[in-house]
Amino acid sequence: MKFKVIILLTVALAWFSCGDKKSDGPVTEPAKEEVKKEVADADPMSNKGIGPISSVTMGEIDADLAAAGEVEFKAKCTACHKISKRHIGPALKGVTERRSPEWIMNMILNPEEMVQKDPIAKQLLVEYNGAPMANQNLTEDEARAILEYFRTKN
Ligand code: HEC
Repeated sequence: MKFKVIILLTVALAWFSCGDKKSDGPVTEPAKEEVKKEVADADPMSNKGIGPISSVTMGEIDADLAAAGEVEFKAKCTACHKISKRHIGPALKGVTERRSPEWIMNMILNPEEMVQKDPIAKQLLVEYNGAPMANQNLTEDEARAILEYFRTKN
């Protein structure tokens, strides 16, 4: 009987001390919820992100530009991204349907600030276990070509 009480006490103690530790963790559950709510409140397509790109003009898909983007994507991005499957980063199929073109280019050109300040990018960083998207030091033209390539992958 005494033995059972001791076990119960130990379990209770362990439970309480775990409860304390949780609140010091770097990514607590409430923080995750907060980020999710911030994202849910905004329309993702109206979010242009943070960075050098404030407006992108898009017409019919430019096949040559998309082909140049494909070469660039394969050289600089496939270490972490696949088109149809989650890898180190998200699958990029359909990305132009869930993000604005400005947001995509700012994510490519300015990922450090995006994952710190942009609500969608912050949520992605949590979802991808804190693995930060790398800045591949592309020019705006190179990033625009990759955007055109993504438009062919919806
Ligand atoms: C070192 C790995 C790495 C490299 C290299 C990388 N990315 Fe990423 N990318 C990520 C991760 C991880 C995320 C999710 C956000 C985060 O955790 O920072 C991401 C997110 C993204 C997103 C947002 C996807 C979505 O669903 O909204 C886009 C777009 C993107 N990357 C494009 C690119 C492009 C284009 C390149 C090449 C120029 C590239 N990435 C290179 C790791 C990488």
